Amino acid sequence: MTKGTFPVESFKGLETPFYYYDVNLLKETLSIVKEITHKYGYIQHYAVKANANHRILQIIATAGFGADCVSGNEVKAAINAGFPASKIVFAGVGKTDKEINLALDYNIFCFNVESLPELEVINELAEKKGKTASVAIRINPNVDAHTHEYITTGLNENKFGFSMSSLPKVFAKIKTLKNIELLGIHFHIGSQITEVDTFDPLCERVNELQTQCENEGIILKHINVGGGLGIDYDNPNENPISDFKNYFDLFNSKLELRKGQTLHFELGRAMVAQCGSLVSRVTYVKEGESKKFIILDAGMTDLIRPALYQAYHKIENISSNLPIQQYDVVGPICESSDCFAKDYELNETKRGDFVALRSAGAYGEIMASQYNCRELPKAYLSDSL
Ligand SMILES: Cc1ncc(COP(=O)(O)O)c(C=O)c1O
Repeated sequence: MTKGTFPVESFKGLETPFYYYDVNLLKETLSIVKEITHKYGYIQHYAVKANANHRILQIIATAGFGADCVSGNEVKAAINAGFPASKIVFAGVGKTDKEINLALDYNIFCFNVESLPELEVINELAEKKGKTASVAIRINPNVDAHTHEYITTGLNENKFGFSMSSLPKVFAKIKTLKNIELLGIHFHIGSQITEVDTFDPLCERVNELQTQCENEGIILKHINVGGGLGIDYDNPNENPISDFKNYFDLFNSKLELRKGQTLHFELGRAMVAQCGSLVSRVTYVKEGESKKFIILDAGMTDLIRPALYQAYHKIENISSNLPIQQYDVVGPICESSDCFAKDYELNETKRGDFVALRSAGAYGEIMASQYNCRELPKAYLSDSL
């Protein structure tokens, strides 16, 4: 999807703001991921947290991927969209009894466990149901993801997972739990990682740990390295598809799998971010003292990433080809952080123009809120407009 290819005529009858998803790009992305993972025998569980739009989930499920969920409702959303329970992993530091019971009832593939008390509760609840829960232990490899601090998750003092040093205690504990089967180990070092080499130390840690486990007679059936591959927010038109080849090749060349082991991934952002845009109408163009403001009908309630982590989204006026001018692009919410960009160059803009905030397919629609009693944004897929 490039500026010129948005179906602006079809947008005219629609209420804004809304998310618009380019199904062709989504399918192309999925087919590239499928081809490479298939080649290496890797298993990709799409991270539902990135975008749980039902139709998007259906398309990803139909393409044959598994799902990575972080709440009971995500597990339900994944099942309802067609993901088989046998391909669902369930992570999260605060799984409630209700959520664990739900996942046990569905017989999901694996719980990614983040603490000792959680292990004990899963064991207890599985015992009550006469079941054995399959688990992977989430480990903090203490690897710096070189990304925004809010989306770095693999450092030692982090609310997620177990530290490397606590592992002997954890493995010993698991041996005492009759209704737990240890399937594997799980990692996730952070999100929006654009330098593929950043995953190098993760592979090294996994290799070290594998040797340690072997020495202690612990057999791991799978290794799950999480997600985190980034996208090009600056150039969505030039780079609509992430560098999946280099990413998976790195794991293939650096991570030493043992015989019979499978390698699992939980990519979210890189699968869906570039296919989505938040489309908004310009409510007003306001002349300030020294600058001009574009006031959109979309705000931080529709796309919170800029306000939450100073994230950048490319902005395009898809109605105008007039000469470039500079604007601050803001939303209507009563917060000064409700600003998408400052001193931004856009084609000259008028009230009523359509503006697209690009690369918004991940952590966009799903993070929308109703603050200021606003309606949640609607969503349209390109194949049904
Ligand atoms: C455990 C886990 N797996 C996978 C993901 C997906 O990450 P990304 O969207 O960066 O691929 C996340 C994101 O926070 C996560 O916490």
